[in-house]
Amino acid sequence: MRVAMIGAGYVGLVSGACFSEFGVDVICVDEDRVKINRLQAGEMPIYEPGLEDLVSSNVDAGRLSFTTDLKAAVGGVEAVFIAVGTPSRRGDGHADLSYVYAVAEEIADAMNGYTVVVTKSTVPVGTGREVEKIFRRVRPDGNYDVVSNPEFLREGSAIEDFMRPDRVVIGTKSKRAQDVMRQVYRPLYLNETPVLFTSRQTAEMIKYAANSFLATKITFINEIADLCEALEADGQDVAKGIGLDGRIGRKFLHAGPGYGGSCFPKDTLALVRTAQQSGHPLKIVETVVGVNDARKKAMAERVVAACDSSVKGKTIAILGVTFKPNTDDMREAPSLDVVAGLQQGGATIRAYDPEGMAQAKQVMEGVKWCETAYDTLPGAAALVIITEWNEFRALDLHRVKQLMGQPVMVDLRNIYNPEEMAAAGFRYYCIGRAALPPF
Ligand code: UDX
Ligand code: UDX
Repeated sequence: MRVAMIGAGYVGLVSGACFSEFGVDVICVDEDRVKINRLQAGEMPIYEPGLEDLVSSNVDAGRLSFTTDLKAAVGGVEAVFIAVGTPSRRGDGHADLSYVYAVAEEIADAMNGYTVVVTKSTVPVGTGREVEKIFRRVRPDGNYDVVSNPEFLREGSAIEDFMRPDRVVIGTKSKRAQDVMRQVYRPLYLNETPVLFTSRQTAEMIKYAANSFLATKITFINEIADLCEALEADGQDVAKGIGLDGRIGRKFLHAGPGYGGSCFPKDTLALVRTAQQSGHPLKIVETVVGVNDARKKAMAERVVAACDSSVKGKTIAILGVTFKPNTDDMREAPSLDVVAGLQQGGATIRAYDPEGMAQAKQVMEGVKWCETAYDTLPGAAALVIITEWNEFRALDLHRVKQLMGQPVMVDLRNIYNPEEMAAAGFRYYCIGRAALPPF
């Protein structure tokens, strides 16, 4: 079985490497020559735990290769996966499908023999139909099926999520295409991973509904946490208490600064637009989008409040800027709003992130980037934890206190214990629990 993966980004590169681990011959195509050169030299253009070993072992086994030549790649494969970017379109929040349509034209032109064309990128409901129209126009005589196979990969655990998925969703009514897809996913099929075969537009909707539901669940617990603070209830225990109900489930109930990433923000917005356009607005998801955007902006106010209502002329130490740990991805990261808000308030920012600083430097200005977590602390009026990297979970609090101007911590990910922090002499602020005075 030979497949081509078009787009060697967070989704395409992980998916291609995992398919090659399944024993499928994979050729990853990307228009970014620099990215392909780095991959051919064995360098990873993104940070994803375990990816480097997975890629190098499959390249060595001759099952995984990289090229910028889409035409050559598509010519000799049974299936072509489209995993190019589908970012939010500037201004209106619709998914920008120009890359998907552009590569569809190239694939239609290049394919020979029966080919299964698979949209792996997150695309609005009905995109498969549009891709099919492109194929019909470019190759009236073509022999192909267009299939939807959405990804459910979380950055930072993408390989695990691919290798042991809760389910595989395949949208096509063509028996021939279903057979090819069974072959591609054969190892998962053999270990009884649930495979849901459904229509193409249903598969497309499953992806958006899943991400929108998860974003809604996070936003729900974020609002409950704020209410708990006002009522002196413990938001963490509320999340635990409701999560023990099998109908709710304990995952994705961690209150924080708001969700970010390349998926939830753009997918919720795209679904809202699709719904508005079809005359069936999704009021709940519309509210989730608004509440989350406002939340990320409000986080800076929490830091200002912790600094006696002003950060003007003060140094603020920031730990973690990526949208979540175990990734280098800065897309829609809450830190972008927090840092901008504090800088507007006149603060000087010193920041450290284990993996994200290279990308952060391209999207943040006026930040003093530090080599270690402790380098951010000298003279700081507050220490703000924005991303819960493991290395921030066991800071030497005595050393932290000695380095800071004043022992104040704003923990936006609740990785510390309020009682312990108060006992260590900190004014400690977190999400979902009333602030404790140091004792
Ligand atoms: C993106 C979307 O964010 C995600 O929602 C969707 O499911 C898959 O596409 P991601 O892998 O994060 O996921 O995108 P990105 O990291 O931007 O990678 C896209 C890759 O496609 C880039 O390497 C880009 O160079 C490449 N590309 C884009 C092409 O090769 N050809 C094109 O025409 C456009
Ligand atoms: C998400 C979906 O989980 C995945 O299935 C889909 O394929 C792509 O989008 P990803 O965006 O990589 O994956 O990361 P995820 O772990 O879902 O976190 C998304 C955002 O939600 C992050 O900013 C994270 O900090 C936040 N989050 C997540 C919370 O604030 N609380 C939680 O309990 C979980």
